[in-house]
Amino acid sequence: MKTFVLPGTDLVVPAIVTGMMRIQDKSDAEVQALYEASLAAGISFFDHAAVYGSEMHGCERRFAEALTLTPSQRDGIILQTKVGIVRQDGPYFDFSHDEIVSSVDASLAALGTDRIDILLLHRPDALVEPEEVARAFDELEAQGKVRHFGVSNHSPAQVELLKRWVRQPLVANQLQLSITHADLITQGMSINMGAHDQSVDRTIGTLDYCRLHDITIQAWSPFQAGFFNGPFLGNPDYPELNAVIDRLAATYDVPTEAIAIAWITRHPARMQVVTGTTNPDRVTAGAKGADIVLTKVEWYELYRAAGHLVP
Ligand SMILES: NC(=O)c1ccc[n+]([C@@H]2O[C@H](COP(=O)([O-])OP(=O)(O)OC[C@H]3O[C@@H](n4cnc5c(N)ncnc54)[C@H](OP(=O)(O)O)[C@@H]3O)[C@@H](O)[C@H]2O)c1
Repeated sequence: MKTFVLPGTDLVVPAIVTGMMRIQDKSDAEVQALYEASLAAGISFFDHAAVYGSEMHGCERRFAEALTLTPSQRDGIILQTKVGIVRQDGPYFDFSHDEIVSSVDASLAALGTDRIDILLLHRPDALVEPEEVARAFDELEAQGKVRHFGVSNHSPAQVELLKRWVRQPLVANQLQLSITHADLITQGMSINMGAHDQSVDRTIGTLDYCRLHDITIQAWSPFQAGFFNGPFLGNPDYPELNAVIDRLAATYDVPTEAIAIAWITRHPARMQVVTGTTNPDRVTAGAKGADIVLTKVEWYELYRAAGHLVP
């Protein structure tokens, strides 16, 4: 498994992260198998959020109950969670000091741990008061409850606004990215082309901003065709893309999941990929992708086969 020191931290992180959004209904044995397959593949990094599960902190609790980690097992993994999406009376977003602090306390209790390695602000709160965020982060850091901080689904200006008050480096920005849902990448290649929808910039230069500021992009939903509408792998709506994926999978002698991941890890921004499969075999299959370095020709062929424009 490809690893690197996450800029802004002392953490050595794997290029792939196992996401825990879909484990609520999994049995202890299923969660354990997912965890063991992740570790066996070199994935020692697990992504949570307060909002994942049938109730708040449900997936965090399921994870801890199923695994009952010893202190040394806990020390051997990186636990990331998110804050800021509220269900009760909502949904709505809340980056207030009290919400951040109380949600972290609830995450710590649910996860059965004394510290969060990385805490992300989940989705931009339109009513954000960055001073409140800074006060919460300072307290959580001073108390040893959170080691590092980051964001998710944030634009460059939203990060800059936070940074005006927040002292700690914002080390990650978790964003949706797959071969088919690739706005982060496609829009930079069609700049100022009036006739093409692809040139409408919905990401506001977020990829390059993150590269310039050492903010690691964590690509969520790497297998989903769009927004939770099912994977593109084996999907008859994407015949050309799957033909290329199948051929490259045969060339590199890996499963198709590995090619979907390699397309993201090949990017020189050195992103992490956050998978959401609950199937241990798919974790093992996808993990092979982090060590493949696609050629430029292969990378662009996948890009075109997904329907994106090379002007
Ligand atoms: N920051 C954010 O706003 C945000 C939003 C969404 C998700 N996330 C994070 O990103 C993680 C990944 O999200 P995701 O679950 O949507 O991502 P994903 O890995 O793209 O999709 C996984 C889903 O696709 C299914 N699937 C079916 N065939 C598959 C195949 N051949 N290969 C792989 N998966 C296949 C999986 O089912 P099986 O389980 O049966 O394999 C699972 O339901 C989440 O767990 C969460 O940690 C973050």
